[in-house]
Amino acid sequence: MKFSKTILSLTGLVVLAGCASFATGPSSAEIEALLKSSFDERGLAKLDRLDQSALQRACSDYAGKELPKGLREKLEKAAIDGVKTPAGSLLGNWQNGERIAQNGRGLQFTDTPETVAGGNCYACHQIRKDELSYGNIGPSLYNYGKLRGVSDPSSPNSDPIIKYTWAKIWNSHAFNACSQMPRYGDAAILNEQGLKDVMALLLDPRSPVNQ
Ligand code: HEC
Repeated sequence: MKFSKTILSLTGLVVLAGCASFATGPSSAEIEALLKSSFDERGLAKLDRLDQSALQRACSDYAGKELPKGLREKLEKAAIDGVKTPAGSLLGNWQNGERIAQNGRGLQFTDTPETVAGGNCYACHQIRKDELSYGNIGPSLYNYGKLRGVSDPSSPNSDPIIKYTWAKIWNSHAFNACSQMPRYGDAAILNEQGLKDVMALLLDPRSPVNQ
């Protein structure tokens, strides 16, 4: 009797200890050390990719929790202040935009510095209705222009939807500090023409996205 009680209470202790280590988890420094020890530099992929920006660190510190309002506003403002908007039309060629949205190449260790990176937008978004292979981390962008409306095509840079969409694609953190979407302009993943082409895919009334 006494023996089985001891076993029981020991099991209880082990369970409790298990819960305690789940509750606290490893520290940021421990995670960082583990990550650094388990990656090697290869090709384009250097270890500096593991160094977090102030924004990424804040988002890791508050993972699963709300960022304090002041901090969130500060990070979003810094992102929006960094958006660069060229003069002239922001809408390029939707056919090329579709190729970019489909293309997941670029910035991988198997790529060369000359590889032109794609946007891989379909990895997270539905875009054209007839493309059945897409991820759903992000919202569906099917009918994006049709639903949002583009009111002033003659002066695209002052149209609020065109301005918002350019800024969102340039640096998604401008409207959601801890967004999971890549910073296509800010991190120079796409060049200016590539950004204009994905804009056209979403906003050109002739694009299949808006049919
Ligand atoms: C890793 C996933 C991911 C990829 C890749 C991605 N996005 Fe997103 N995107 C999101 C998420 C998540 C949201 C919504 C929440 C947010 O902003 O964090 C979003 C939001 C958007 C929005 C705003 C939608 C709205 O209704 O306001 C646009 C526009 C957009 N994405 C365009 C694109 C384009 C164009 C590409 C490719 C060049 C792309 N996204 C690639 C995850 C992604």
